[in-house]
Amino acid sequence: MEMNQNQNGAEDPTKVSTLYCIDLSNPDIHQSVSLLKQACLDCGFFYVVNHGVSQEFMDEVFAQSKNFFHLPLNEKMKVLRNEKHRGYTPVLDELLDPDNQLHGDYKEGYYIGVEVPEDDPEAEKPFYGPNVWPADGVLPGWRQTMEKFHHEALEVAKAVARVIALALDLEVDFFDKPEMLGKPIATLRLLHYEGQISDPSKGIFGAGAHSDYGLITLLVTDDVMGLQICKDKDAKPQVWEYVAPIKGAFIVNLGDMLERWSNCLFKSTLHRVLGNGQERYSIAYFVEPSHECLVECLPTCKSEKNPPQFPPIRCDTYLSQRYKDTHADLSVYNKHQT
Ligand code: OGA
Ligand code: NI
Repeated sequence: MEMNQNQNGAEDPTKVSTLYCIDLSNPDIHQSVSLLKQACLDCGFFYVVNHGVSQEFMDEVFAQSKNFFHLPLNEKMKVLRNEKHRGYTPVLDELLDPDNQLHGDYKEGYYIGVEVPEDDPEAEKPFYGPNVWPADGVLPGWRQTMEKFHHEALEVAKAVARVIALALDLEVDFFDKPEMLGKPIATLRLLHYEGQISDPSKGIFGAGAHSDYGLITLLVTDDVMGLQICKDKDAKPQVWEYVAPIKGAFIVNLGDMLERWSNCLFKSTLHRVLGNGQERYSIAYFVEPSHECLVECLPTCKSEKNPPQFPPIRCDTYLSQRYKDTHADLSVYNKHQT
């Protein structure tokens, strides 16, 4: 059963979720903390407004994203994703929900991480290194736009993380420390969904059901509906609701590392994308701590009665495994490379 059910048991596949909205310019931080906490306990998805990224600039990022995806496939294959998870991911590269999906996701994407020059010793870390960029002259101004967005989104993420820290009874700057978001693994991902109609009963999805891996994800989408969340991942049957885009707002969701840190107080949320026949663009910004960060139960989230449910794990170990589980082996693309 893939559809939602209303009280009479009838299917309601169009329900739109009402989410809390956090105003980052609100001087009453206690109010923001209380709202965010309710949002995190309720479903782990919320909107963030007045975040400091201008609408004009968001529009520019979307326009540049479209410019890239409109390039011919052979041009896009020149910047194919590398082993550092930078660059282009073709349609079907990713398979998020193998139990329920026939093929991979009907989306193409482009990963941009933290820019670390090749000769920097830090570039040896699995998620650090130089980005892959379209050749000069192919897309003028493209790199600058994406780098600027990467920087601005990180500031938004840090501001949200401060509210999360307070909501978990931690020091406000808990996530600002060097081993946390001081040296983050932060990945901007441009996404383009083909105008294909999804069919859950046939295992066809824009993006299969998944939860994100890190601390939080910031998402901006165009105005085509498609994102759905499942508020209770253990419910059977699962109930899916749409998340409507709000112009200018980030949609924020909690990732699996936060679920581990908070000992399941703040659960990560299952979500997926259904195509409705229209093409759709979105931009995700995945926020994870440093490579070395040990993600372990927070002191404020355990007690004798509530012992840690997960063993501590290093951020890079955890992430590498998650990417390996969900992405095609790079060797499948060798036939395309000349
Ligand atoms: C993701 C994701 C949703 C969207 O990339 O992890 O959930 O609307 N994207 O594109
Ligand atoms: Ni996601």
